[in-house]
Amino acid sequence: MLKSSIDKATGFEKRFENIGTVVYENSTTASKAVAQEIADLIRVKQAQKQPCILGLATGSSPKSLYAELVRLHKEEGLSFKNVVSFNLDEYYPMEPDAVNSYVRFMKEQLFNHVDILPENHHVPDGTLSKAEIANYCDQYENKIEALGGLDLQILGIGGNGHIGFNESGSLQNSKTRLVALDHITRVAASGDFSGLENTPRTAITLGVKKIMEAKRVILLAWGERKSNIIKASTESEVTSSVPASFLQEHDNATFVLDKEAASKLTRINTPWLVEKIVWTDRLIRKAVLSLALYLKKPILMLTDADYIENGMSDLLADSGPAYDINIKIFNKLQNTITGWPGGKPNADDSKRPERAEPAKKRVLIFSPHPDDDIISMGGTFKRLHEQGHEVHVGYQTSGNIAVADDEALRFARFVCDYNDKFKIENKEAENIYKKAAEFLKNKKSSEIDTPEVRYIKGIIRKGEARATCHFIGIPDEQIHFMELPFYETGTIEKNPLGKADIKITHDLIEKIKPHQIYAAGDLADPHGTHKVCLDSVFAALKELKPKKFMEDCWVWLYRGAWQEWGIDEIEMAVPMGPDQVLEKRKGIFKHQSQKDGVVFQGADSREFWQRAEDRNKETASLYDVLGLSHYAAMEAFVRYHF
Ligand code: F6R
Repeated sequence: MLKSSIDKATGFEKRFENIGTVVYENSTTASKAVAQEIADLIRVKQAQKQPCILGLATGSSPKSLYAELVRLHKEEGLSFKNVVSFNLDEYYPMEPDAVNSYVRFMKEQLFNHVDILPENHHVPDGTLSKAEIANYCDQYENKIEALGGLDLQILGIGGNGHIGFNESGSLQNSKTRLVALDHITRVAASGDFSGLENTPRTAITLGVKKIMEAKRVILLAWGERKSNIIKASTESEVTSSVPASFLQEHDNATFVLDKEAASKLTRINTPWLVEKIVWTDRLIRKAVLSLALYLKKPILMLTDADYIENGMSDLLADSGPAYDINIKIFNKLQNTITGWPGGKPNADDSKRPERAEPAKKRVLIFSPHPDDDIISMGGTFKRLHEQGHEVHVGYQTSGNIAVADDEALRFARFVCDYNDKFKIENKEAENIYKKAAEFLKNKKSSEIDTPEVRYIKGIIRKGEARATCHFIGIPDEQIHFMELPFYETGTIEKNPLGKADIKITHDLIEKIKPHQIYAAGDLADPHGTHKVCLDSVFAALKELKPKKFMEDCWVWLYRGAWQEWGIDEIEMAVPMGPDQVLEKRKGIFKHQSQKDGVVFQGADSREFWQRAEDRNKETASLYDVLGLSHYAAMEAFVRYHF
């Protein structure tokens, strides 16, 4: 267990994890390693003729683990006949065959595909009467104890640090019980239940005590959205407000992380505070900018003493004095700012983010959903067009699941009224409207829309995207609706990236032969739509790389609606004045189906235009605090080299 000895001197938070953490390149390789550990354990127990008692979790995190266990069973003969499993939790009340039940989840992800005996898998029962629950929970724990306790417990982690459904405030010796779910947990689940109002308020969960008694605990966390809670659970003090932090006191617990989930750990985010490092340009930039932001000082005001007192004296010795380092980083940051995202014609471009030539570029903006282009890079989009570039937009998915049912009906009705008014005979339109109305009237929560309803919803979003493009000035022939098939499941759960998705992306790039590509480089949610869209672009770029026109193609990544690049990562920052901020807002307003309350609101109650403005203002204010120019807002990009 590592401990920092210089915390107090720097005033920075604790530096090291108080728990074992292993960081993998991605969730797939991490899951394979965990699956291997489980397989080894099962086989050891088989050799000893003993049952292997596993504690299992649901949620997005263990899905790739279960997929690998299924593969090990099917391809490498791993048998689950000696496995007895106990799941952590179940919503209450919940029927076992309901779409969102954990019983169903476990069957679909694991139990139905391996040879575990039906009597050997246990998931808490969501159908009991309230009076029966306490006794049932005791029995659940007794069963685990009678088998000698859990050999290995798999956990995910909630945004608030919950393990199982032991929410903030749960005690370390808490028992298996009925609990009320936190608002933040319900919001995270609300997408699956079509809205917060349909999301359960209670659940049955294994208590922290039984989790802590497991002989081995492995907690899985993927994606940037888990990075803050991973830092808090592993580096801060043990506290019931972050139940995962109890695991610091377990003597055989490991957090298995992908790079993004680990990205806020002190040893990864600020390694110079932890050990002697080789100072690369990237690290120097990151360290100096975080020092300036931490001290709330402009870069050029940092002194030798600031460097020394904050664990950066070796950098000072190598490259100091402070003034020299400051000026170098200041200039670098200044060079990221440009009002010419497509390059400034006839200007010296040696220090600018983009090339001056060709002066008129073909630009292809990929937008995962129909509104990401305007939300995340609306100011840049407009500038590119106004500065004479030929801007194309590729709308990667239809975004149809995010349209409310009554909107779909309103538009279907509009078509009928339109036909009626202009005396257009169209029985089929009437039929579609009637069928859609009938279906939506009786639609159950989380029921998948009929294809017609989905098409109507998709057409609504198409119209909105087109309206934004026209608002910017983009003609129809430069608007491309790609409708990638991976998205078209009708549910939140999407298919994995397929050949057809890559081909559509490949063909569009090849057709346009762009000098610039913009794509959403969103890594916050590794299983989300943005990530699959990005992977399709990366896969297409890899295929196209040998082509001549690709030598001239630069790729810029913007971030989705949820977060911005770190200030130390930004390679191009496009500033906006107050009027441009308002223009962008109008462009976002074209997406009427996403205004005034959306189907998937998430934990953030702000509307998209508010999130976009807050984020762009925040970026501008960082440049301001660091002693550069003061702009109203800024959009940020990172270059992707392929
Ligand atoms: C699931 C469970 C929860 C989840 C946690 C993370 O059985 O008990 O604690 O592990 O909410 O969920 P995901 O993995 O979906 O981010």
